[in-house]
Amino acid sequence: MAEKITKGIILAAGYGTRLYPSTIVTSKLLLPVYDRPMIFYPLNVLIKGGIKDILIIVSPDHSGHFINLLGSILEKYKIQISFKVQSLPNGLPEAFILGENHIDENNVALILGDNIFENDFSSEIKNFKSGGHIFVKKVPDPERFGVVKLDAGGQAEKIVEKPKDWVSDNAITGLYLFDHQVVELAKTLKPSARGELEIVDVHNYYLHKKELALTIFEGEWLDAGSHDSLLEASLTVRDKKITGTFDPMLDEAIAEYCEKQKSLIKKRIS
Ligand code: DAU
Repeated sequence: MAEKITKGIILAAGYGTRLYPSTIVTSKLLLPVYDRPMIFYPLNVLIKGGIKDILIIVSPDHSGHFINLLGSILEKYKIQISFKVQSLPNGLPEAFILGENHIDENNVALILGDNIFENDFSSEIKNFKSGGHIFVKKVPDPERFGVVKLDAGGQAEKIVEKPKDWVSDNAITGLYLFDHQVVELAKTLKPSARGELEIVDVHNYYLHKKELALTIFEGEWLDAGSHDSLLEASLTVRDKKITGTFDPMLDEAIAEYCEKQKSLIKKRIS
């Protein structure tokens, strides 16, 4: 069993209905954040973390769009990208069930396709050994997120999804590192009252085993779920020069892909 994280999953199967009409015919993750489609930001997090085998979980309606963009863009760089369809949004932990063969006996990083981070978490990903690891940021609206209450020593004490009553303002962001046990664990979970498998049930499993580590960070964590927050995300990415911190290999692959497409178009219209 490998300890180092070698497998990554991007969960990209949402429908983004709050962004209608922009998302009527395609995925929210293919809309631009500043100068590139949103999906490149989580992809960059995994690639910077040294992960070379990445599964993208997509909805049946948008699978072709993702394959067109990402199907062969990184082939030359020995980064394997594969796809699986999630037929319904049954909850974040379903990623581990759909990704069972992909994960196999390895540790895994899951990232939500709409999470954009300013921080570089590559050392946490590269140094992960076992258990679980979550990434936490203080927010003004904790009722919108999974939250973690910390004890006096800064360790996780209690984790709740979208608390109605005050628990903590430490939101758990959408990057998660788990060891391979997460696959069998996900298969045992039952849907919550809102009808979904809940990622906080996974966190709580590791918390109770005292195997949940956390990183608290202060950099930008961008949410692009509404028209205003999508615009804000683009402006923040531009102002904080977040694309300037992309893995050079990914930047090169994107630039090459653009050139290749341009010359194909030229040929088609000449
Ligand atoms: O963004 C961080 C938050 O993400 C965490 O704090 C919460 O603990 C976690 O439950 C999740 O909350 P959200 O309410 O933001 O999850 P949402 O249902 O909006 O899904 C997040 C992304 O994952 C979104 O782009 C859609 C996609 N998704 C979601 C589900 C439930 C899928 O691809 N498949 C799914 O089954």
